[in-house]
Amino acid sequence: MKTHIITYGCQMNEYDTHLVRSELASLGAEFVDTWQEADFVLVNTCAVRGKPVEKVRSLLGELRKEKERRALLVGMMGCLAQLEEGQQMARKFEVDVLLGPGALTEIGKALEAQSRFWDLSFREELTHHLPPAPKGALSAFVSIIRGCNHHCTYCIVPTTRGPEVSRHPDLILRELAQLKAAGVVEVTLLGQNVNSYGKDQPGYPSFAELLRQAGRVGIPRIKFTTSHPVNFTDDVIAAIAETPQVCRYIHLPVQSGSNRVLRRMGREYRREWYLDRIRAIRQAMPDAVLSTDIIVGFPGETEEDFQQTLSLYDEVRYDSAYMFIYSPRPGTPSYKHFQDLPREVKVERLQRLIERQKHWSYQQNQRWVGQTLEVLVRGAAKDEAYAEGHTRGNHPTLVPAAQAPRPGLYQVLIRQATPHMLYGEVVGAQEPAPLPLAMA
Ligand code: 5AD
Ligand code: SF4
Repeated sequence: MKTHIITYGCQMNEYDTHLVRSELASLGAEFVDTWQEADFVLVNTCAVRGKPVEKVRSLLGELRKEKERRALLVGMMGCLAQLEEGQQMARKFEVDVLLGPGALTEIGKALEAQSRFWDLSFREELTHHLPPAPKGALSAFVSIIRGCNHHCTYCIVPTTRGPEVSRHPDLILRELAQLKAAGVVEVTLLGQNVNSYGKDQPGYPSFAELLRQAGRVGIPRIKFTTSHPVNFTDDVIAAIAETPQVCRYIHLPVQSGSNRVLRRMGREYRREWYLDRIRAIRQAMPDAVLSTDIIVGFPGETEEDFQQTLSLYDEVRYDSAYMFIYSPRPGTPSYKHFQDLPREVKVERLQRLIERQKHWSYQQNQRWVGQTLEVLVRGAAKDEAYAEGHTRGNHPTLVPAAQAPRPGLYQVLIRQATPHMLYGEVVGAQEPAPLPLAMA
């Protein structure tokens, strides 16, 4: 069957797309580049904010029109599929296959069924599933824990992805070993809250211990996302500092700098706690690269609260940040109980925050000028005179294309930096390690 998968949302969704894609490939699916050519279109959805939900709505509308013209099977998976909001859309737009984030392993059965197939259960199989290594990729994701036990009042994820379930460490280490053998040089360990890894299963290692074990597999770059500041322990910091393969890139979402807003968000920590974690990270690793997520315009956020966010940004001096306007999500406590702020207020605050981010990203990026960094070159940049890649600290980096003819790891002397880009020259290449004899 000619299949096309469209993915919205986070890295966990990208991983899930890979998982479903490899299941479909093993069933003989052929993948095509556009939905217009496909007999089966599968949409992997995101529900974290209103925008991705609207994108899915308009795509499903187009697909329903296409269904009037020809035989077409339409599937929907991911977070929106788990919600009543998504199911209403699925009914309206005649979606044939609907799989919640816990039911992905049912994709084969869904296609065998000759009628509508909906499954919203959370299945054990998913926790035990081992997807094959992606072909020819240098970077890959590995899910280590699914779900979230926190209750941030703005967030729909605990509803869509359920409570935390850790994967068995042996399975994770096997997946890492497969990826290494396939030539992958960078792996991101994924979870809604990776620091909670192992807590739900007696006998599993802690996240810190898992990081140490993952380092020993020998993949040059191990990253992880996302962390909750409450669980970001000294042991996790020590494990990052001690394990050379673990990149010193730490994404630690703060969401707000105001204690009043943090309390209303249900974030379980105060500004002082967060700043103490940053202090501990910097003390252990002065070269750490720090990024964050910030929501502006949470209901009831005053100008004073927002100033607290700006002042926290100035204290931390983040290397980069993902900044979002608060989006009320049906089904979340903040949607039910709080009044949304006027859009103009939210947009204006976002603009001021972006200005602050640009200022600090520029300042922070200057510290790499004159240093040699390892860059994972992925291929040609938009401007074909350059090849593009990223450092261990996730900085997008450009080098002259002629100096990096193949994707891979290069040593790059950084010559120049803007708020969003490093520019450098290749001073050495690290050939990909040869395949072990058994694999060659
Ligand atoms: N509105 C805006 N941003 C949100 N996020 C999660 N829920 C919402 C929401 N309702 C942001 C948070 C989280 C990131 C993945 O998305 O900053 O860390
Ligand atoms: Fe959502 Fe909070 Fe869980 Fe992150 S930690 S997934 S923001 S509930």
